[in-house]
Amino acid sequence: MTRAETFDCPVQVPLAVRPMGVWDSFQTSRRNVLELIPEIAVRQPMVSGRTVKRWHMVMEPGAIRRVLKDRLEDYPKSDVTKMILRPAIGESLFVAEGAHWHWQRRAAAPAFSVRNVQALAPVMTAAAERAAERVAAQAGRAANLYEEMVTTTFEVISDVTFSGGEAFDRAAVHRAIDAYIASTARVSILDIVGAPPWVPRLSRLTTGPAMKAMKSMADEAITERRGSGRAGVPDLLDHLLDGEDPETHRRMTTAELRDNLLTFIVAGHETTALTLAWALYLCAFDPVVQDRARAEARAALGSRAATVADLPALGLCRRIVDEALRLYPPAAFLSRTALAEDRLCGREIRPGDTVMLPIYALQRHHLLWPDPHRFDPDRFADPKGIDRFAYLPFGGGPRICIGASFALQEAVIILATLLARFRFTPVPGRAPRPVLILTLRPEGGVWLNVAEAGD
Ligand code: HEM
Repeated sequence: MTRAETFDCPVQVPLAVRPMGVWDSFQTSRRNVLELIPEIAVRQPMVSGRTVKRWHMVMEPGAIRRVLKDRLEDYPKSDVTKMILRPAIGESLFVAEGAHWHWQRRAAAPAFSVRNVQALAPVMTAAAERAAERVAAQAGRAANLYEEMVTTTFEVISDVTFSGGEAFDRAAVHRAIDAYIASTARVSILDIVGAPPWVPRLSRLTTGPAMKAMKSMADEAITERRGSGRAGVPDLLDHLLDGEDPETHRRMTTAELRDNLLTFIVAGHETTALTLAWALYLCAFDPVVQDRARAEARAALGSRAATVADLPALGLCRRIVDEALRLYPPAAFLSRTALAEDRLCGREIRPGDTVMLPIYALQRHHLLWPDPHRFDPDRFADPKGIDRFAYLPFGGGPRICIGASFALQEAVIILATLLARFRFTPVPGRAPRPVLILTLRPEGGVWLNVAEAGD
């Protein structure tokens, strides 16, 4: 990469330029797991190595398709993924494998149908309106837009999971999830590739008191809803209560409902907040794109909040979200454990090998993306030109994110509402640093100067 290329590009992770031993890897991963990705991963189809265990990083769309789709059964989610998530979300959709995953996916699918997701849009519009009010109160100074977006997306996800429940204390649930994610923050590459026993292990993660309290609160809310029935537009809990696996006719128990609803909260809230925070950072980074997007949003909305009916008129806002998800994929690193012998990119895969899909490197790969580090939302103007397995912010194959259209709808509604009303500019010296702590977070927050956009 040339100096000029770096200068014109938004913030990025300094990838490793020399091979690392076990100790170096451990130290680096404590700082930022993404810095373990070798720089050659954005230039070569596959990188393999051994740090205690054999591992491979795969960046070639055909091979990724094989892992995520064609040979799904041979590449279950890695033990470390499960270790991290099980204490919080049990054997829910995100973690389960085989038949237990399949029936839950079939039972939950209707909740995320286009019609049902669209019906939930008013919750997103209302949250966008409240976000705009909070941001307006900070006009004329710098605001941490990451914090604001976390608040906003948490309002959305809690309103569409346990809406109106007496038993559900939104703030307490939020605190419990934050504490849990913080306790997993020490995820190290050694955990991912198989750590020696003296390394502090994630398997020691336990269900703390805050998490226990959250689970019982969710159970109460579900029991309450079973008794009282629904009011108004059915939310995700109503849909899951109605949900039945069309093949086995199995329905979810209260514990299964709870684990899946908590999964939606954990999987859906921070990821969407990150998408929005990085999108706003990118708009501040590139004022020309921001002005174009504001013109689009104002033409469609004036100064009201966006609704689902506005989405067709918000093409650039959508492309900004797509590009933010390319440059800063919240789920930057997917990981699988090989169960069977296989070959990927001509290389031997043995049972027990860790197969990593570094989405961050894939989506900045020089063979797949022209000028890959540059912010250019218009590269999504013709989505057909992009290989399906070169762009995987939501994963791919049968285990693709069930909430993808929900998240995209929410992100565009909130982004357009904010851009129509405000102008965002960078705060000198406070550019965020992308750090992988379970998700790809902006270390230090996304601080931007906020001004009313005026008429
Ligand atoms: C921008 C926001 C989001 C991003 C970037 C994202 C990303 C992902 C990714 C990459 C996966 C696949 C993981 C893997 O294959 O290892 C996934 C799965 C999943 N996501 Fe999302 N997600 C987002 C929003 C949501 C929302 C809003 C919900 C629910 C309301 C949700 C629920 C789930 C669930 C349940 C799964 C597991 C699906 C399965 O295994 O069948 N996600 N997500």
